[in-house]
Amino acid sequence: MKDRKKRTSFLPWNIFFRCAILLLFFSGFTLSTFQLFFREGFHPRLVSTWRTPPMEVISGEPSSTPAMSIQETVIFPDQALVFLKYHASTLLFSKDDIDCIYLLPNTSEPQLQLSPVSIYSQYSDHQSVRCPRQPRGTIVSLAVKSNGNLLPGPTHRWHSLAYEAIIDRDNTTVVFVKGLNLRSGRVSDPSKFKCLFGWDLRKPKFVLWSEVVSIAQEIVRCKTPLSILNSPQRFISSIKVSVRVVGRQTLKSIARPKVRLMEPRPLSEKQHEMCICTMLRNQAKFLPEWVMYHAQIGVQHWFIYDNNSEDDIEDVVESLVGASYNVTRHVWPWIKTQEAGFAHCALRARDSCEWVGFIDVDEFFHLPSGLSLYDVVRNQSRPSEVAELRVSCHSFGPSGHKKVPVKGVTVGYTCRLTGWERHKSIMRPEALNSSLINVVHHFHLQTGFEYTNMDRDVLVINHYKYQVWEVFKEKFYRRVATYVSDWQQKRNVGSKDRTPGLGTKAVEPADWSTRFCEVEDTGLRDRVLKTFTQLKTDRLPWQDLPMSRRQRTALP
Ligand SMILES: *[C@@H]1O[C@H](CO)[C@@H](O)[C@H](O)[C@H]1NC(C)=O
Ligand SMILES: *[C@@H]1O[C@H](CO)[C@@H](O)[C@H](O)[C@H]1NC(C)=O
Ligand SMILES: *[C@@H]1O[C@H](CO)[C@@H](O)[C@H](O)[C@H]1NC(C)=O
Ligand SMILES: *[C@@H]1O[C@H](CO)[C@@H](O)[C@H](O)[C@H]1NC(C)=O
Ligand SMILES: *[C@@H]1O[C@H](CO)[C@@H](O)[C@H](O)[C@H]1NC(C)=O
Ligand SMILES: *[C@@H]1O[C@H](CO)[C@@H](O)[C@H](O)[C@H]1NC(C)=O
Repeated sequence: MKDRKKRTSFLPWNIFFRCAILLLFFSGFTLSTFQLFFREGFHPRLVSTWRTPPMEVISGEPSSTPAMSIQETVIFPDQALVFLKYHASTLLFSKDDIDCIYLLPNTSEPQLQLSPVSIYSQYSDHQSVRCPRQPRGTIVSLAVKSNGNLLPGPTHRWHSLAYEAIIDRDNTTVVFVKGLNLRSGRVSDPSKFKCLFGWDLRKPKFVLWSEVVSIAQEIVRCKTPLSILNSPQRFISSIKVSVRVVGRQTLKSIARPKVRLMEPRPLSEKQHEMCICTMLRNQAKFLPEWVMYHAQIGVQHWFIYDNNSEDDIEDVVESLVGASYNVTRHVWPWIKTQEAGFAHCALRARDSCEWVGFIDVDEFFHLPSGLSLYDVVRNQSRPSEVAELRVSCHSFGPSGHKKVPVKGVTVGYTCRLTGWERHKSIMRPEALNSSLINVVHHFHLQTGFEYTNMDRDVLVINHYKYQVWEVFKEKFYRRVATYVSDWQQKRNVGSKDRTPGLGTKAVEPADWSTRFCEVEDTGLRDRVLKTFTQLKTDRLPWQDLPMSRRQRTALP
């Protein structure tokens, strides 16, 4: 109650704004009055008529004009990510429709024009364009072939930025930030921080402040001002949220809160029993086998966080969805944010999944006794305090292969090390600690819940960690994980994550194909061959997944 009172004591934000808009709307206001209020979200070029409904004017998204603009640009060390916003009915652009252009400040003649690295769309009225890093002193913008050059948008540096936000079902806003440099795996003191909501966070008069509920590992949980919660969704997703260390500057923000629509449901009513969250980069070719196998043992939904893949992942996901696998791809372009990505995924998965496994695409759950994952999770009788199942991993070696095994990794690699690697977890997302702390695929739980170590005769993970050289080289060249440095750098040389005996040179050791082989383990291979081999053709289903568009067009 106390809380509610405090929040309503703020300026009744949305009411004030609705009145102000209507007033302006009916009294023939001028452009400059309007700009005064909404500088950043305001694109005069977009608005052809003031008959556009007020809410749409605010969000800079008129319903009738097919126009586009650059919403903002984020500068990464090696690339720039440009967010292009346009009317939802506009056709999606491809790489060929757009060029990155580089301008000197206050000029309109591009100094340089380059093709984008990639382009993707996450929401219906946005596309993101990755541009090569701009030369010093220039500003990056886009030339759209059908539309001409666009004005550059506000530019932010990645190392200090609020970049994503979700309104959670308890009405707090979870904000993902970069640059607070908090200690890993610990909760910080929330009273040292404040949250801000508004269109232009540089204008203190038009910003709503709120308290931080919890803060850890660059994930901040903010109270959401009531007046914002009570606004229409379009309106909510047009404002930004950010965080300030008390007494210091506010982080720049591109984080617009997304509303989770699902209502909390009792545990027994989740749509799926078992889901998987994973993060990958350029591993599309491994997806069909990984998805089809896990579907067979009981996984119902795969949340794929794609860290800037440049392979044909869109086509592969499309063909899996076409074959009725519930796979969703979420573009996660943020650098060194694996923990944040898993927390983001856990929040999304909680709506529909009773259990979520956090594993990589080269890891396969294996049930030596022939059970399914359903048997395992259903055996955790409810109500139960067990909310995390820790599963031990075995590392497999190249098993004598010099070329990628044609029947897939589970059939090809059958020789492994004897020892156990660190475990991976299957979690019940309802029991996650609200701080969303996780370290190495491993979340903190709410007090009162506990983990159990899975019996290794029931469930293990086969980790196809050391595949044939051509694959291994790729994987370690640019690792997705944050906790290992690039394998070619002479950092963390003693780390367990380094490949024993490999050192820091990217040269294939003569005996690579026979390394990491201490014991034959054909358990999973036998199960896969028995379950999946198609009698007529002697093939496995992932050998025949419909060819992707790119593969087809590459044919002579
Ligand atoms: C560009 O123009 C703005 C005002 O339009 C001015 O404040 C700024 O100093 C100019 N920058 C340069 C580099 O000329
Ligand atoms: C969240 O806010 C909405 C809108 O104010 C309200 O209807 C709902 O009851 C709130 N939910 C919780 C869990 O506080
Ligand atoms: C994504 O890949 C890049 C290398 O291209 C890496 O620097 C970055 O840390 C990765 N992102 C995450 C979330 O791990
Ligand atoms: C796929 O999963 C999502 C959420 O997990 C669910 O909303 C959707 O209905 C599922 N689709 C199918 C075809 O099962
Ligand atoms: C089910 O749980 C019981 C007791 O917790 C355990 O002894 C048994 O091995 C479990 N079975 C499976 C398939 O996990
Ligand atoms: C979450 O974890 C923190 C410390 O790790 C603990 O103080 C807090 O009570 C936990 N929250 C819940 C709801 O259990």
